[in-house]
Amino acid sequence: MQKMLMDVDTGIDDALAIAYATSLPHVELVGITTTYGMAPVEYSYRNTCKVLEYAGADVPVRKGAEKPLQRSRTYSGRIHGTDGMGNTLGPVKDMVSTQPAVDFMIEQIYQYKSELTIVATAPLTNLALAIAKAPEIVDMVGRVVIMGGAVMTPGNVTKFAEANIIIDPEAANIVFGSTLPITMVGLDVTRKTLLTTRDVERWKEKDDKLGKSLAPCTQFYLDAYKELHPYLQGCALHDPLAVGVAAYPDLVQTVPMFIRVDLEEDALGRTTEDLYREGSAQPNTKVCVQVDADRFMKDFFHRIG
Ligand code: BDR
Ligand code: CA
Repeated sequence: MQKMLMDVDTGIDDALAIAYATSLPHVELVGITTTYGMAPVEYSYRNTCKVLEYAGADVPVRKGAEKPLQRSRTYSGRIHGTDGMGNTLGPVKDMVSTQPAVDFMIEQIYQYKSELTIVATAPLTNLALAIAKAPEIVDMVGRVVIMGGAVMTPGNVTKFAEANIIIDPEAANIVFGSTLPITMVGLDVTRKTLLTTRDVERWKEKDDKLGKSLAPCTQFYLDAYKELHPYLQGCALHDPLAVGVAAYPDLVQTVPMFIRVDLEEDALGRTTEDLYREGSAQPNTKVCVQVDADRFMKDFFHRIG
């Protein structure tokens, strides 16, 4: 069994990613750490617990960072709704996280070491804080698959930057500047795995608890995409693809690159390949450049209805 820890900001496509991860027969989801991102951490924490309940999965969840390392965060609710779930979730009772996410993450790395894959589908604050607290973990964990960044395509927040990177660029800089074994699942590939109106309609019609529960928020996400990105034929399955890449590495073609995160204000959050290998810099990231989108979409639907 492949051991997987997810770090999420649930978030509609995070919710789909969690549901997908719980459905994979060769994956054991050992825990989920949550952070702010598309909504405050209180929401992403409870959304995560709710999705696990829909999926009937008993997985430990821990609440993590409330804000970026050095910046503030405001929420527009435009793509994921003000509650992170397309305003579909309704009231949920207060939930208490028993342990800080960062401590849990470090504990899991110590427990599973190179057997563990971390899939991060959120701003990288929790991971950066874990590195600061226990720097040795960077050489212990097996793999870190990050949904974030863009090398060959434009960003989705600015023309340069992708959301998970630009929300906390300092954290991303720490993570990419470490020796963690990173695979980057950026917009270059996630914009190729699109969920369509027809797919969501199918979920609504089916007598499947998980698909049916997730259909209303996915509809919200799809509508937001239609408005913001009318040239795309659906909404991007960013975070589910990161889980897919972690579970099936041969879904994608990767190229080793030396990725830096720009901190200059005019290109903030850009993930740049250092073509010139300034100094003696070696590639630090496997960047996904091609994806077998058909294979991924088939498996995704097969697993979650
Ligand atoms: C990333 O930002 C969020 O909107 C998604 O959940 C995904 O993790 C895409 O840029
Ligand atoms: Ca996310």
